[in-house]
Amino acid sequence: MAGRSWSGKVALVTGSAQGIGRATAEVLKARGAKVVLADVQAEVLARTAEALNMPAFRLDVTDPDAWSAVVAEIEDDIGPIEILVNNAGIMRLGPFLANDPDRDDVQLEVNVRGVMHGMRAVLPRMRARGRGHVVNIASTAGRVGTPYAAVYSASKHAVIGVTEAVRQELIDSGVQLSYVCPTPVRTALLTGARELAWPKPIAPEDVAHGVMRCLDRGLVEVYVPRSGRLAAVLPAILPRRVYERIGRLLGVDRIFAEADHAARARYEATYAEAAGGETVG
Ligand SMILES: NC(=O)c1ccc[n+]([C@@H]2O[C@H](COP(=O)([O-])OP(=O)(O)OC[C@H]3O[C@@H](n4cnc5c(N)ncnc54)[C@H](O)[C@@H]3O)[C@@H](O)[C@H]2O)c1
Repeated sequence: MAGRSWSGKVALVTGSAQGIGRATAEVLKARGAKVVLADVQAEVLARTAEALNMPAFRLDVTDPDAWSAVVAEIEDDIGPIEILVNNAGIMRLGPFLANDPDRDDVQLEVNVRGVMHGMRAVLPRMRARGRGHVVNIASTAGRVGTPYAAVYSASKHAVIGVTEAVRQELIDSGVQLSYVCPTPVRTALLTGARELAWPKPIAPEDVAHGVMRCLDRGLVEVYVPRSGRLAAVLPAILPRRVYERIGRLLGVDRIFAEADHAARARYEATYAEAAGGETVG
């Protein structure tokens, strides 16, 4: 396989009990990294840890103290964290004006502050060592406003902004920061969403390989699939009415508007129940 060796390097992947995080953990392990899993869903995490034979920590990424404790324990017991993949994330759908702000804004806690807590917990250690790589999982929804997922879209714009800014602050430190923008991915997060004719949902493994492109080649901004970059490029080069028309023709305005809300309610309840609780290794 192409790219540099990650043999023996410690990689922490959040939200790795399932979906993109789990796939990323598997690909990193296949490349020789010592992968540590972390997730808020204790039971799913325990099953994944057993199946993949990896150490695991129950971590709610919204808790900065839990981050400090987990990072210290990993570095004491396993070794310096060379790679952090800030992948944990949730999505709530619905019309912005109709949604309960308290429930909707939980996405900012997990998707934005969770990522920032992770960066604050790990980057000072990486900077002191003069090496390390943080890869934040954003989305093409972080490049274009995504109707009926407005706060999710805002959260992913924030992930891109904070990654771009901190990357420049640390440009001479030896530490790298990247972000990955997937189009829709076939995972629990997409439960009940309408499927587009194009782009079709991709596999979590595809995103895992996007993470590896950041790590192997030092790429800052990776789109999965590569055509996802159109989400960044088209609004910059086309008149607004033209690219919005293209979006409507593809049905991107309906993918979340016409979601199966019963299925979504079950997905969203998972995180209402899982949040908080004790952090255990
Ligand atoms: N699925 C998609 O279409 C898609 C597209 C673009 C980007 N993304 C992003 O990919 C990332 C992974 O999502 P996924 O699609 O694999 O979904 P998923 O629901 O399968 O996995 C998300 C994981 O994050 C964990 N998690 C949720 N809240 C947490 C918290 N507070 N602390 C720790 N862990 C928490 C969940 O338990 C779960 O294991 C997310 O950041 C998501 O926004 C997904």
